[in-house]
Amino acid sequence: MVSVGILIVGIGGNNGVTLLAGQIANRHNLSWETPTCRMSANWYGCLTQITPRGVHNHGVGFKGRYPGLASADDCVVGGWDIRPTKLGQALYNCRVLEPDLVRQVRDEMDRVEIMEGVWDPSFIGESQHETATHVVTGKDNASTRARVDRIRRDIRRWREKHNVDGHVTVIWSASVERPSEAEYDSPDALLNAIYEDSNNDDISPSMLYAVASALEGCSFVNGGSQNTLSLAMSALFDQSYRQPAAPLDCALQKFSPYSSSRAFCLGTDYKAGQTKFKTAAVEYLRALGLTPRVIASSNHLGNNDMLNLTTKKTLSAKMRVKSDIFGPWQEEDLDHKVAVMYTPFIGDEKRDFVEYTSLGFLGSPHTMVTYTRCMDSILCVPLMVDSAIWCDFFVNHDVSQKDAARATAYLFKVPEGDAKDVDPGFFHQMGQLEEVLEKACGNSLSGEKMLEHDDLDLISLGVRKGIISVEQATQLRGLAQK
Ligand SMILES: NC(=O)c1ccc[n+]([C@@H]2O[C@H](COP(=O)([O-])OP(=O)(O)OC[C@H]3O[C@@H](n4cnc5c(N)ncnc54)[C@H](O)[C@@H]3O)[C@@H](O)[C@H]2O)c1
Repeated sequence: MVSVGILIVGIGGNNGVTLLAGQIANRHNLSWETPTCRMSANWYGCLTQITPRGVHNHGVGFKGRYPGLASADDCVVGGWDIRPTKLGQALYNCRVLEPDLVRQVRDEMDRVEIMEGVWDPSFIGESQHETATHVVTGKDNASTRARVDRIRRDIRRWREKHNVDGHVTVIWSASVERPSEAEYDSPDALLNAIYEDSNNDDISPSMLYAVASALEGCSFVNGGSQNTLSLAMSALFDQSYRQPAAPLDCALQKFSPYSSSRAFCLGTDYKAGQTKFKTAAVEYLRALGLTPRVIASSNHLGNNDMLNLTTKKTLSAKMRVKSDIFGPWQEEDLDHKVAVMYTPFIGDEKRDFVEYTSLGFLGSPHTMVTYTRCMDSILCVPLMVDSAIWCDFFVNHDVSQKDAARATAYLFKVPEGDAKDVDPGFFHQMGQLEEVLEKACGNSLSGEKMLEHDDLDLISLGVRKGIISVEQATQLRGLAQK
């Protein structure tokens, strides 16, 4: 059995425990009481996990539409946290899910190992320091190189312990960090700085997790808003840099053995709620031929992520990604304002308000208002799941870093690297995903007939085990279509 791995940095946080609880609920097919009805486990919101619904452009949902899309039920989930709180207890504490569901998954979650986190207090808000007692110390924490080595060992040990033989994606779902001032012009410079322990270089924990992921052949997804990704970081994930036999003067040699497997580096900051809707709403206004002039938005919530953002140094990282979303549209006169407020009483149940004022016919104003209320983690977890499932799928289908970044741009507030110039419109971005999927799988596979799941799994298994090549798999899938 090939299993896909999801390693979450910050697994004890609201997103981490909600993802794990959802996976357990689906795996055991649980059902539970809610104030309105009895609910059973589902993957709503995860586009990779729901079967196509509707007729337009094959409908919404990709499960069964493309061969080889992994089932999130079969993923192995693990991760690190700097807090020691058991995961079932953390799920109870965060009050995201219904108590009747929490009751059913709590014990199993309490038994999941939490690996000690690599951290640097200067990067996150003071509000997080008191609970940071589950951290890497001693010689594993003695230098940047020792920290990267420790994360790499953690990944290897975890893979072995859980028999994870498929692709692993490491997701930064830990607290937002302040921006790092370390800048490198090449992966060699980045690796050398870590090797020589240039701690004065201001290398953030998220950069260390990303580098360790690349060296282990895991994809890395930056779900937070800090500046972890850079051109040098993307180049480190590029297979042409991590060749099996890198030149002797290449900094990679200092980190041998390293993986030359395909892996992606994606981000930045999940586009989960208000920002996602804005990119769809403004696309709509523009499609009407209106000229958006003012977008005034606010949101308030009271979760731990928001508490961390009450520090100026971390808030600046969040505000950058929240405000900087319409750049490629070059709407020069657009006045886009964002305010966020910390309101502890409402916990994770975020409220967001946005007023859009545009110019209509003869410059007459057109104004509309939206109000959304939802648990923040319910918005974000499906994106975490989908990003890991897409990484696995794109790795197995030999999709380039450029195409993977383009296809997943819809998941991030600020698509980085090769996705930088992708249109910010939500539906346009979904079109990019479709395009990459068509290119990766060939037109024949998006026909009306869907393959049986058993066929898909077997063919994909053959590719992953190296028994058949991607080209042979494509031919087999073509045959199965007939
Ligand atoms: N929920 C959403 O809708 C949403 C949307 C976009 C982005 N995000 C981002 O996702 C991340 C997680 O959100 P959350 O609500 O789960 O936050 P949270 O505060 O509940 O959880 C963060 C967890 O990270 C841990 N942590 C901090 N530094 C760490 C380190 N160096 N190593 C390991 N663990 C560390 C903390 O102890 C905490 O348990 C945040 O960066 C947030 O901005 C969330």
